[in-house]
Amino acid sequence: MPKMTFILSDGTRKDVDAPVGLSVLEIAHRNEIDLEGACEGSLACSTCHVIVDPDDYERLSDATEDEEDMLDLAWGLTETSRLGCQIIMTDELDGLTVKLPAATRNMMVGTK
Ligand code: FES
Repeated sequence: MPKMTFILSDGTRKDVDAPVGLSVLEIAHRNEIDLEGACEGSLACSTCHVIVDPDDYERLSDATEDEEDMLDLAWGLTETSRLGCQIIMTDELDGLTVKLPAATRNMMVGTK
């Protein structure tokens, strides 16, 4: 089974099994990784924003226009940002590494 790595907002690396056909969002939830995904993958939020390792970014299929539009709203957008619910695991993506955007958390703390 492919594996992938999440880099948590505190910098901890977490290696997890990544079953083919599941989205990065679903894989995060299965492993109790704190990626929100408020709309559950229907491209209506940007809370599943992840920052893909630049070495892996090229391996992903291109974002659709809808995904790009949502990403524009994501806080802390980077050149390798994607929506976690739109990255579907394949054998080719074995070893994928994504980072959770730390800024989202800081922003939430700030509004409390
Ligand atoms: S979970 Fe809402 S866009 Fe991914």
